[in-house]
Amino acid sequence: MPQVDYDGRMAAVYDRGRHLPDHTVALWADAARRHLPSTGQPVLDLGAGTGRFLAPLSMALGVPVVGVEPAEGMRARAAARRLPKTVSLVAARAESLPLGAARFAGVWASQVLHHPAELGRCAHELRRVLAPGGRVLVRGMYDELALQWPLAPYFPEAVAAGRTRFARLPDITAALERAGMHLVAHEKVEQVVAETTDDFLARTALRADSALAVISDDAFAAGFERLRRAVDDGSRPAPVCEVMDLAVFSA
Ligand SMILES: C[S@@+](CC[C@H](N)C(=O)[O-])C[C@H]1O[C@@H](n2cnc3c(N)ncnc32)[C@H](O)[C@@H]1O
Repeated sequence: MPQVDYDGRMAAVYDRGRHLPDHTVALWADAARRHLPSTGQPVLDLGAGTGRFLAPLSMALGVPVVGVEPAEGMRARAAARRLPKTVSLVAARAESLPLGAARFAGVWASQVLHHPAELGRCAHELRRVLAPGGRVLVRGMYDELALQWPLAPYFPEAVAAGRTRFARLPDITAALERAGMHLVAHEKVEQVVAETTDDFLARTALRADSALAVISDDAFAAGFERLRRAVDDGSRPAPVCEVMDLAVFSA
């Protein structure tokens, strides 16, 4: 399983390259509120990255949120946000969480569970830190990249890399089930990623996406040229939407 380096270039471009409109972030905070038990216990944001969901989750749920993030570059950007006092950051990996047992009402795992090399260890750690009845919310593009990802028509090498090099939902489901959790919901959520084609081109140029980061520079350049032509001839209009999976597992 390849690891994407989230410390160097990716940390520098992530916020601009993966920016979501406020209404899209609000849509996700609302989805978390619908699926997480309201016990007042904290929520764990696993692989919190630059922290784009930390404050929105804490505010929507009205509970403390602990962001766990192993990459120093990503964590530094999260810490540089004006975070509410209800948000804290921990340097750790999902495979070994320095957190007490049965402490969390839920885990928010946004675009992260396809990364860890040792999914089984992560799943056991998530189960350990969850309170009884707690939930793991897995957000990502896990079903069929070619149908879900608006860049798929232009970057076939990235679609192939996404299929073969990252864990997919059946792998994640199996690991969580072995750790004692079960799937209780699987939603398809359409989200706006860019309101204009200029924004879509600018964010794509940053390669702030793991599937674009792992292909060759030549493959990226050819794909970007195909995308630019599609924008020019109107076959790639705005707004640009994509379909995400939200899989909910209960302890
Ligand atoms: C695509 S980013 C997602 C960041 C954030 N969740 C979001 O949605 O914006 C993936 C994040 O997972 C983190 N990550 C990778 N492997 C991890 C692991 N084993 N445990 C915890 N986080 C990990 C990376 O450092 C990176 O910040």
